[in-house]
Amino acid sequence: MTTIRTTQSSPDAATIDLGIGQPGPDLLPLALLREATAMRLAGDDATLLSYGYELGDGYFRRALGAFLTAHYGFALDPESLMVTTGSSQGLDLICSCFTEPGDTVFVGEPTYFLALRIFADRHLRVVGLPVDEQGIVIEALEERLAAERPALLYLVPTFQNPSGATLPAERRAKLVALAEAFDFLIVADEVYQLLSYTVLPPPPLAHYDNGGRVLSVGSFSKILAPGLRLGWIQATPVQLQRIAGSGLLDSGGGLNPFTSNLVKVVLEKGWQDDYLNGLKEVYGRRVEAMATALRRELGAAADFNVPHGGFFFWVRLAPSVDTERLLPRAQAQGVGFKPGIHFSSRGALRNYMRLCFAYYDEATIATGVARLGSVFGNGV
Ligand SMILES: Cc1ncc(COP(=O)(O)O)c(C=O)c1O
Repeated sequence: MTTIRTTQSSPDAATIDLGIGQPGPDLLPLALLREATAMRLAGDDATLLSYGYELGDGYFRRALGAFLTAHYGFALDPESLMVTTGSSQGLDLICSCFTEPGDTVFVGEPTYFLALRIFADRHLRVVGLPVDEQGIVIEALEERLAAERPALLYLVPTFQNPSGATLPAERRAKLVALAEAFDFLIVADEVYQLLSYTVLPPPPLAHYDNGGRVLSVGSFSKILAPGLRLGWIQATPVQLQRIAGSGLLDSGGGLNPFTSNLVKVVLEKGWQDDYLNGLKEVYGRRVEAMATALRRELGAAADFNVPHGGFFFWVRLAPSVDTERLLPRAQAQGVGFKPGIHFSSRGALRNYMRLCFAYYDEATIATGVARLGSVFGNGV
């Protein structure tokens, strides 16, 4: 019998898959969206059912600009925002409009693994740069720039997927100065910028940019719901016009006018702020649960930093461990994770694994990590 699938990840009930990097299904805001939808569909305004304006509904962009201004700590003009169907599409559109096949993209090592898929689709050549606990190492970037110039540098500056690392303010400023000096663009994937649980991160990368070097991609996937497929690109109006002039938008009109109209209500009513605050509390507790369980179950076998935000723990094991090879053994114990090799542009990082604390509640996280302990723990 074939199973009719509806979601991208559907772990069987017996498995705790800590490899899934999504908000927990228990947290998805059904009631909130039911109310926003009823409100938006109550009147006679059917514009949300038309082809949309290429840059996205102006009222939604205004509400988004106000929301981001309040959270980013600097004024964000709605004219610098364009609606997308998520951060992934934002990245793909930028690659499509600002690179040629064969161009080079610099990434950190590790990097968000699915960005690598988008770069492959666009026939881009990827070069991995060294990182430390604070993200891309500027001196290493300078060294590489002496040898070659990329079209793009892609990074997740805040609460990186997978490492949780956050680039400090000085490095942000230096990165932008290097992009200016060596004439390349930076794509800052800032999907975790608002998900801080302890200390606030530095402002988004665009804050350090005066010259149109930084294009930022953002999303409602991690702060509201991924199924909305709603995000944005923040860039200069000229850069946005280049994207908005693409054949895709010319033919299909602006992206996601229907959903953006529903989320406009969520923003204007202040519900997004309330929901975000609730999420931060829940995720903060889940971080603690995972840190405690890792210390208890894996002890000295695992080395990790407790993340200050985002979704992930990035766990380093002994150099001889190959997490990809050991995944089937973990799955046989009813637990999954994402092997480190996925996050490498050159088949390395084999002794790392990424664990997500966002998908399961605290008790399930503890059980999952205990199962990991029977595969990787001290003395195994
Ligand atoms: C760094 C990063 N970028 C992009 C995405 C996907 O975002 P979206 O759902 O907005 O396409 C994710 C989701 O895991 C992510 O971690």
